[in-house]
Amino acid sequence: MVNRAPLPLSRRTFLIVGVVTAATMVLPPFISAKACAANAARPIKSAVTLSVNGEQRELELDTRTTLIDALREHLQLTGTKKGCDHGQCGACTVIVDGRRINACLTLAVMHDGAKVTTIEGLGTPGKLHPMQAAFIKHDGYQCGYCTPGQICSAVAVLEEIRDGIPSHASDNLIDAPQLSASELQERMSGNICRCGAYSNIIEAITEVAEANT
Ligand code: FES
Ligand code: FES
Repeated sequence: MVNRAPLPLSRRTFLIVGVVTAATMVLPPFISAKACAANAARPIKSAVTLSVNGEQRELELDTRTTLIDALREHLQLTGTKKGCDHGQCGACTVIVDGRRINACLTLAVMHDGAKVTTIEGLGTPGKLHPMQAAFIKHDGYQCGYCTPGQICSAVAVLEEIRDGIPSHASDNLIDAPQLSASELQERMSGNICRCGAYSNIIEAITEVAEANT
């Protein structure tokens, strides 16, 4: 027969110990949330140098600053538009080291030393870039909100095709991509236009592409 020793803890003590143990398990996240809040109040800053539209710009940025916020809020280059702010609309498209990217999806510190071209760097009201002129000629916009991103994207698209980079619409991965409407539509599909100026945008891009061949 086994002799069972009486439990050294009363039921009440057992419950108290349980509550204290649970509180200890909950406490660390609570403390870490407080620590996070304290850290957020003291942002970590970093020096960032960008060549923006041919001009060297020195910035001291919170490391969490996105490229679009660096351009718009710190350099006052408000031509680049913020639409969705999470990579869905293409309104924030700029050209970085020759490639178009969504400026809302990338941190400025990731591009230290990079060459950034925004809509302001493509042309001026007195000396439009051919793509800007074509958008005007073909009514490639209505409200114009998506237009800076559309134009930056379109300029980079023609470079991609010229460099032989295939898209999902290309016939194969070996031959040079064609300058077809479906090729342009596919490549521009990341740039949303709420006004629905798509067919005119493709006409504008086609005209510039044909003028360059
Ligand atoms: Fe960047 Fe919409 S604002 S993709
Ligand atoms: Fe209005 Fe494109 S012109 S969203």
